[in-house]
Amino acid sequence: MQQRLETIAADPLILSRPQDEAALVRRLIGDTDLDEGTRDRISELAADLVRHVREKTHPTMMESFLAEYGLSTEEGIGLMCLAEALLRVPDAATIDELISDKIEPGNWMAHLGASSSNLVNTATWALMLTGKVLDDDHPGVIGVLRGAVRRVGEPVVRTAVGQAMKILGQQFVLGETIEAGVANAKALEAKGYTYSYDMLGEAARTADDAERYFQSYSHAISVIGAEARDDIRSSPGISVKLSALHPRYEGRARDRALKELKPRLIHLCQQAAEAGIGLNIDAEEANRLELSLELAEMALAEPSLKDWHGFGVVVQAYSTRAPDVIDWLIRKATAHDRRVMVRLVKGAYWDTEIKHAQVLGVSAFPVFTRKAHTDVSYLACARKLMAATDRVYAQFATHNAHTVAAIQTMGGDADTFEFQRLHGMGEALHDAMMDRFGTRCRIYAPVGAHRDLLAYLVRRLLENGANSSFVNQIVNEDLPPEVIATDPIVEARAGGPSRNPHIRKPADLFRPERANAAGLDIDDPGDREPLLQARDAFGRTQWLAAPTGVSAESETIERPTRPILNPANDNDVVGHVADATVDDVRRAIETSRAAFASWSATPAAERAAALRKAAAAYERATA
Ligand code: FAD
Ligand code: 2OP
Repeated sequence: MQQRLETIAADPLILSRPQDEAALVRRLIGDTDLDEGTRDRISELAADLVRHVREKTHPTMMESFLAEYGLSTEEGIGLMCLAEALLRVPDAATIDELISDKIEPGNWMAHLGASSSNLVNTATWALMLTGKVLDDDHPGVIGVLRGAVRRVGEPVVRTAVGQAMKILGQQFVLGETIEAGVANAKALEAKGYTYSYDMLGEAARTADDAERYFQSYSHAISVIGAEARDDIRSSPGISVKLSALHPRYEGRARDRALKELKPRLIHLCQQAAEAGIGLNIDAEEANRLELSLELAEMALAEPSLKDWHGFGVVVQAYSTRAPDVIDWLIRKATAHDRRVMVRLVKGAYWDTEIKHAQVLGVSAFPVFTRKAHTDVSYLACARKLMAATDRVYAQFATHNAHTVAAIQTMGGDADTFEFQRLHGMGEALHDAMMDRFGTRCRIYAPVGAHRDLLAYLVRRLLENGANSSFVNQIVNEDLPPEVIATDPIVEARAGGPSRNPHIRKPADLFRPERANAAGLDIDDPGDREPLLQARDAFGRTQWLAAPTGVSAESETIERPTRPILNPANDNDVVGHVADATVDDVRRAIETSRAAFASWSATPAAERAAALRKAAAAYERATA
C-alpha cells in the first residue's frame, strides 16, 4: 500500500478546469445528440407528467412553507440565512445575535393567515411576536428594558427555530435508526421501489465523530445486507459521505486523507460486497472531487472487490468537469476490468460553490452559472453513460419531469439503468413513470437523529425554495405545464449560450471600485499543485533580509544575523535576518517625514497606481 500511495502522490489526479462556459455548453448541446423532433416529444411527455403530478398531489408542509417564505421574500431569505448559519455558529450567544439580525427586519405581519396551512400560519405568528420582542432601536430606559426582554427572548427563539427545523425535517428522514428505516421502507418496497440508505452525518469535526459515523455505516450495512436479493439492482444499498469518515478529508491533507480513508472505505466496501448490496460514494464540495476520485480508483483497483458490481460513484452535472469525470470513470473501470454504478445528479451545493469561489477570488467557478446549462450537461452526461453500459450501471437521480422524460426517451434497455429520487420528494412523478413505463426507481433515504440533519435539510430548503427549481415551479399554479417543461437546449441557446451576467465572477466581486484580490483554493489541486511546483523552485533558496537602507543584495551583511526557520519544520533554515536597530528605525522615520510633503501632494490616482503596482507584484510573487 505504501508503494501505491507514493506513486499516486507523485502523480496527483488533476482534471482540467474549463474556463469558457459558453464554449463548453455549445459542445455539450451537440453531445446530447437530440434532434428537434425528439426534443419536442420529450417536452410533450414532460408537460403531460407535470399535469399528472399536479392532479395527484397536494403540497407538503414544506412546500407550503416555502411557497410562503420562498427565497424571493426578504423574510424567506432571513430564515434561510438563519438556518444555514445555525450550522456553523459554535455558541448560543452568537446564534442569538444572528436571530435578532435575521428576524427583526422581517415584515412577518404580511404573511399572517396567508398560507393555506395552519402550521405555517402558526409559525408566522410566532415569528411575528419574536420580531416585535426583538424590535429594539429605542435608546434610554425603554431601550434597556427591551434589551432585557430580548435577552430573555432569544434563547426561546433559538429553541423555537430549532423546533421549526425539526418539524420541517421530518419530511426528509425515513427513520431515526436503520432498523426503523428498513421497517418504514416496506410500504414502498411493496410498490416496487428499492432504497439507498444515507446515514445522516457529514463533515466530521473530530476523530471521534468520524469513528461514530464509521460504526453507524458499518452497522447499517449489516442490517441492510439482511434484506439483499440475488441482484444488486433489486437490493437495497447504502450511500456514504466520505467527509463523515475523516475529519481531514480535504485537499490540503491529501496524502493523510488517502492513507487513512482508504482502509475505512475498503472495509465498508468489503462488507457491502459480502452482503451483496451496492455502496455509492456521495459527491460533496467541488474541491474534494479529485480526492474522491482517487479513493474511488483505490476501490476499483482493490483485488478483494474484484467480483462485486456494487461500487458506485456520484457525478454532479453542474460541475464543468462532469463530462471529464465520466470519461475518467469509464476509463478506470475498463483499466481495472470492473463495472461501476454511476449516479448522475445535478448537484446540491450550488450556492455554496458560487459563494466560496467569490470569497476566495479563484480564477473560475467550478459549476455552471445558468440552470439550463446544468440541465444540458445532465443530458450530455447521460448520453455518455448510456453508451457505456458494458462498464456502467446508470442511476439517474432527479425530480424534474423534463429530465426524467428525456432519459426515458433517450434510454435503451430498461435493465441498464434506474431512476432515483430523494425520500420526501418526487413521489407522484416516479409513481407515474413506474406505472406507465415500468421504470425502476430507488429512493435515497436519510436515516438518523435530528442533530445530524441540519446540513442536509438546508440543502433541501435551498433546492425547494429557489424559484428556478422544478419542485418549486410545480407547486406554482401560475406556471403552465408547457413552460415548466421547456427544453433546456432552447433555453440555453436563448441565453447565448453565455455565462450568467448576474453572477459576478470572483475577480469582479468588488467592481467598479476595484478588482478582487486573486485567491487560491489550496484544497483544490488545480490551484494547489501549480503553486507547490512554483514554490519548489525556491526549495534551496537562502533568503537574506535586512532593514531598508542595509543592502541585502550581497551574500553577506556586515552585521549580526539570526536564522529564520520554516515554521512547519524546525530543521529547515530558510534564511537569515538582520534585525533593525534603533538607529535604523530613526532613519526610516526621518526618510518618511522627508517624503511626506511630496507624497501628500502626489495626485491620488498616481498614489493609487503605485499601491496597485505593489499589490500586483505581491500577487505575482505569491509562490
Ligand atoms: P431541478 O430543479 O431540475 O434542478 C435543480 C438543480 O439545478 C440545482 O440543485 C442545481 O444543481 C442546478 N442549478 C440551479 N440553479 C443553477 C444555476 N443558476 N446554474 C447552474 N446550475 C443551477 N447531490 C449532490 O451534490 N451529491 C450527491 O451525492 C447527491 N445524491 C443524490 C441522490 C439522489 C437519489 C437524488 C435524487 C439527489 C441527490 N443529490 C445529490 C441532490 C441533487 O443534486 C439535487 O436533488 C438535484 O440537484 C435536484 O435536481 P432536479 O433535477 O431534481 O431538479
Ligand atoms: C445531499 O446530501 C442528497 O447527497 C445529497 O444533499
